[in-house]
Order: sequence, then C-alpha cells, then structure tokens
Amino acid sequence: MATQTDVSRDEALAALARAQDQRALDAWRIEWFGRKDGRLTQLLRGLASLPIGERKAAGAAANALKEDLERAYEARAEELRRAAVERALTEGKLDVTLPPRPLRRGSLHPVTQVTRRILDAFVQMGFSVVEGPEVELDYYNFEALRIPRDHPARDMWDTLWIDETIEGGLRPLLMRTHTSPNQVRIMELYPPPIRIAVPGRAFRYEATDTTHEWMMTQIEVLAIDEGLTMAHLRGTLLGMMRRLFGEERRIRMIGSYYPFVEPGADVAVDCFLCQGKGCHSCHGTGWIEMMGCGMVHPEIIENMGMDSRKYTGFAAGMGVERLAMQVFGVDDIRYWYQNDLRLLRQF
Ligand code: PHE
Repeated sequence: MATQTDVSRDEALAALARAQDQRALDAWRIEWFGRKDGRLTQLLRGLASLPIGERKAAGAAANALKEDLERAYEARAEELRRAAVERALTEGKLDVTLPPRPLRRGSLHPVTQVTRRILDAFVQMGFSVVEGPEVELDYYNFEALRIPRDHPARDMWDTLWIDETIEGGLRPLLMRTHTSPNQVRIMELYPPPIRIAVPGRAFRYEATDTTHEWMMTQIEVLAIDEGLTMAHLRGTLLGMMRRLFGEERRIRMIGSYYPFVEPGADVAVDCFLCQGKGCHSCHGTGWIEMMGCGMVHPEIIENMGMDSRKYTGFAAGMGVERLAMQVFGVDDIRYWYQNDLRLLRQF
C-alpha cells in the first residue's frame, strides 16, 4: 500500500520534471517548501499531532522525503542552467567575432614623467635618488636650515601645522614646505662626498595663480665634496636643463636670498609661450622661475660635523610642475591637478 509520502514524492518529482524555466522552479519551490502553506512544510508540521506510536516512523519518512525533494530540486536547477548555456551557444547569440571594447591604456601623469626625466639627468651625472618624509619636523624644515622661529623668512613658507607629542614632549610637525630638509637629513647620515637628488611633494599656504599651487613636486639636489664651487652648480643645472629642453633654451641665474645658502641664486628659463616677450603665463616678465639654488651655508656644513674650509657644496630645489609646463607647453600650473582627462591624455 502506498503511503502518503510515496504519493507526495511521485507528484512532486513529476511536477519538477515538467518545470522548464526558473520561474516554474520558483513556483514549485513555493508549493512544496513555502514557509507557511508549503505542502511539505505542512506535512512536517502535522507530525506533532500524530499518536506517539506512529510519530517516529512517519517522521523518518517525512524527513527522507524532504531530503529527496531538495536533492531533486538542485539537480533539476542544474539541468536547466546547462540547457540555457547550451541554447545560448547553439542559437548563435554568442558572436565570438564581435570586436572587444577598446581597452583604455593608462599612462604616467605628466608631472611624474618629467620627474623621472629630471632624475635620469641627475643620475647620469652621478647622483643617487633618495626620498624623505612629507610630514616633517620643524627642526629639519626650518631650524637646521638657519630659519629660526622668529625669522621673517618663515613668512615665505607658511604651511599646515600638526601638533604631535613625540617622545614625551610637544614637537611641532608640519607639512614640509620644500624638499630642502633632506639636505640636513642626508648630511647627518652620510659622510662626503655626497651627491643626491630627492624628489617629493611640498606644501605651502599659497594664493594659486598660473604659476603657483599649494601643493607641488620638488626635486632637491645636494652635492658636498672638496673644492666644489658655484661653477659646478651652474654646470650641473645647465646640463640638466639642456637634457630637458634642448640646447637652444636660455637660462637666467640671478642673486637671491635663502637662509641656508651663501651665495644664493634663482634660476629661470625664458617663457615658452611668448619667447621671453612677457605674457600672462610668465606674469609679464618673460622668465619663469624654476628653482632656487646656492652654495650650502658654511655654518650648516660645520653643524653637520664637517670642516667648512675643506668641504663645500651646492644645493638646488626645483619645481617640477613648472618645468613640466615648459616641457609640454601648458600655460597654467593648475591644470596638472584638475584631473581633466581631456588635458592629461595629450601627454
Ligand atoms: N627650498 C627652496 C624653496 O623651496 C629652494 C632652494 C633649494 C634654494 C636649495 C636654495 C637651495 O624655495
């Protein structure tokens, strides 16, 4: 004699075999396993009202049915999935000859490209590349570079300050305003001869215009050796500039003041836009300032434990965004970080 569960099993399996798509599968699942009115759900619930004597056997049968139906459901679902893939392949809906969507190749940001070209030029002249921290101690950014707390030169380099307690005391930290702190960091670490180039970001409280941004990339160069002079400085910078811009570009070097060099100078190139006639990009001067430089102040050489009568050196700090403007012919520094792909894709 067929039991209730046998009848149910036959009926459920037959219905499952008739299901041809996901929607029919879902309906079947609800009919049998539905949480409230599902037929199997009700069967299991009904077990509780059976007399003790029958409950055990009926329970085992009902659970076996449940397992069978679950397995059958999974198998049928898998069958339908395979059939769907088979159909897609044979009915020609998959066109393997369709050209793929074009891959968009990324590229290095123009400022990164120019940074690397400048570093390459210095490496060819025997410099090594190192990096330093963007969050810097007041000591390295200012004090050790002969810019004491009340010195007016600090006005040129206002920035973001971060108060942080280090090693038990409050030591002012800041976003470095230039890469020059690395001059001191390197001299502390290595004996002469020194030849290093340090790329990195610097931050300033700055009103932005065509040649000023509040964040910029600088490359610091430092050389310390016996007998280095201003001529070595000029030759090194000229070598780098010519590699970058070609032989015909003109360079101007005029005296300037930086507390950590003596003498100091500013280096400018003739404006690419107006060929030196004066325009909005160069603020009417015909020249674009590219870097500060000079001979490392003898007091710093002495502070670093070297004899300033024996060792001399030169340092320079250049703004890569401005150099990149000249390399690529872009007339406003602010374009570099507006992240407009229409501009960036051109380089
Ligand atoms: N650090 C200076 C600046 O950012 C540039 C500089 C570097 C000047 C090295 C002299 C020597 O303005």
